Amino acid sequence: MASKPFIALATTVLFFSLIAVNHFGKPFHGKLGEMEIVPITDTVGPESVAFHPVGDGPYVGISDGRIIKWQPNEHRWISFGITSPNREGCEGTDDHETREHICGRPLGICFHESTGDLYIADAYMGLLKLGPAGGLATPIPTHAQPQPIPSTFTNSLDINQSDGSIYFTHTSSLYHRRNHIAVVLSGDKTGMLLKYEQESKQITVLLTNLSFPNGVALSKDGSFLVFAETTKCRILRYWLSTPKAGNLETLAQLPGFPDNIKRSPRGGFWVAIHSRRCKVLSWILSYSKLGNALIWVLPVDVITKAYSVMSKYLGSGLALRISEEGVVLETLELESGNKMSSISEVQEKDDHLWMGSINMPFLGVYRL
Ligand SMILES: *[C@@H]1O[C@H](CO)[C@@H](O)[C@H](O)[C@H]1NC(C)=O
Ligand SMILES: *[C@@H]1O[C@H](CO)[C@@H](O)[C@H](O)[C@H]1NC(C)=O
Repeated sequence: MASKPFIALATTVLFFSLIAVNHFGKPFHGKLGEMEIVPITDTVGPESVAFHPVGDGPYVGISDGRIIKWQPNEHRWISFGITSPNREGCEGTDDHETREHICGRPLGICFHESTGDLYIADAYMGLLKLGPAGGLATPIPTHAQPQPIPSTFTNSLDINQSDGSIYFTHTSSLYHRRNHIAVVLSGDKTGMLLKYEQESKQITVLLTNLSFPNGVALSKDGSFLVFAETTKCRILRYWLSTPKAGNLETLAQLPGFPDNIKRSPRGGFWVAIHSRRCKVLSWILSYSKLGNALIWVLPVDVITKAYSVMSKYLGSGLALRISEEGVVLETLELESGNKMSSISEVQEKDDHLWMGSINMPFLGVYRL
């Protein structure tokens, strides 16, 4: 009988060589090679980008739990806020295994323009609010909920600027962010789309049984929202008003795993694609038992580390601007050898694209 460590080693080698072979076959082209870099000196992972309503910023949330703010005149970042009161061993860390759940991990961020409050979807701390003076973000006040919302993996949000209500995604009720690979491999369907109302302080569950719900964005007129279902490589459209209210449709099927979604001022949405869906992974995903077997033989952190090292070298970032009807309007593809190997978000402002990533020590800026 082969021992479990041996099976584990053999599986790892086979799995990742198959993925590598698959990736190397693909030529990359596009124009993102001309991208400028805004370095983040002491840590990594500016996952989401927000600009203050009066125009300062950008603000980003990073791997050590801080929200930092760019000072263009001084050409440096300053600390603006934190999402967890416990900061022991946090400063500068990107240790997912032992620190992330303590220090917090801010993912989606968005300003409520009329109050200047920054709302944060922290993967571990849930939905938080950070006032204009910064400091420690506080949980949003809520009334007793008809059903408890698990605090495992809050991910992304968008705000109705007229009444301050917040639409947000909860990626999984079983896995934390640091085990996000397991959400994909196991075919987990415990994600939710939720809404928070400022006045009633009530959280409503809009949709359940989602496969890795991720980025979310309201349409320009607010009649629907779109969100990414990462495992299924697709964008869904959920109607909020009009006679179609409550309907859910597939808006776009994508060539890879989508992360955040932002409205573009030129129309439609920017969808950041973390990595391409290669054939091997598609095959594993079509048999959820295989994915679960992989999680059984290999510790999730080993899979996660191997995958993140690989994606760094194989570079596969891609971003699409799609119309409100799901038609691809623009494609940005990373050139091979580009420093930025994965994109988590594209935020368009004043003819510039600000590109975030979950693991790079910088923001990418691209002039349109
Ligand atoms: C959908 O999710 C609910 C709990 O949120 C669960 O009880 C139900 O079985 C799920 N339905 C399907 C078809 O998976
Ligand atoms: C946004 O808020 C306004 C004002 O309350 C409301 O009329 C509109 O339906 C809301 N839209 C969404 C998408 O929540």
